Amino acid sequence: MQVFVEPDVGAVAKRAATEVIEGLTGGAHRANGAVSHGIVVGLATGSSPLGLYRELALAQTAGLIDFSSAHGFALDEYVGLPARHPQSYREVLLREVCGPLGLAPERLHVPDGSATDEESLIAAASDYERAIAAVGGVDVQILGIGVNGHLGFNEPGSSLASRTRVKRLTARTRSDNARFFDSIDDVPTHCVTQGLGTVLDARRLVLVATGPSKADAVAAALEGPLTASCPGSVLQWHPDAVAVLDEAAAVGLRNRHYYDDSAAGL
Ligand code: GLP
Repeated sequence: MQVFVEPDVGAVAKRAATEVIEGLTGGAHRANGAVSHGIVVGLATGSSPLGLYRELALAQTAGLIDFSSAHGFALDEYVGLPARHPQSYREVLLREVCGPLGLAPERLHVPDGSATDEESLIAAASDYERAIAAVGGVDVQILGIGVNGHLGFNEPGSSLASRTRVKRLTARTRSDNARFFDSIDDVPTHCVTQGLGTVLDARRLVLVATGPSKADAVAAALEGPLTASCPGSVLQWHPDAVAVLDEAAAVGLRNRHYYDDSAAGL
């Protein structure tokens, strides 16, 4: 695991973009010699990766990477929002990623949370796993982290081996995400989310976390025990995980000097 602590959110976005591009174009990409389906990037929603997406757009303009034939796979989606709801993760990613990065909307894959019955939602989750496998898996999974340590919508208690499935959201996550809706009553109670096992299958993980509200979750995820109580702790189980933090999110880390020495190439 590599941990970078940057002085501000702008530097976090730049470092994270560098790590994502390296994963998409370098050794992690198709290292196993599989047939290339082009770039496959896993996309997180939330505010944490927005600066990173802007940096990736700049990198594309500069000719450092080309997303025009890339596939993007969302981490998760709410269940039960009306089609085209502005806070559905499909719409968020169309706005924040497809437009700026030139990623074709038909190659943006998002779990289908539109069904109203359990059987159809379960089938949609299985379809999603098959869609990821069909393009050879995810090269780089971009991640944020919830204040309770959730990854995607894998809430505390999620199986470390879980696959894409329907999950209930915690009260904490619904209240955290209420800022995007008119009222907390409008926040869905359920989601379809990639499982932690699905996330771990990506060839590289790049986590972005900023601000003091994330400090406890970051410390637990990076330096606490590997436990379903902190889904973010699965980063420790991945062979190529990168965490990019600002100073506020990093205050709880005990091994800070070591990370800084490693980042400086010492
Ligand atoms: C949501 C998303 C997560 C995201 C989290 C943190 O719950 N499902 O993928 O990591 O929010 O969001 P933010 O980056 O806005 O703090």
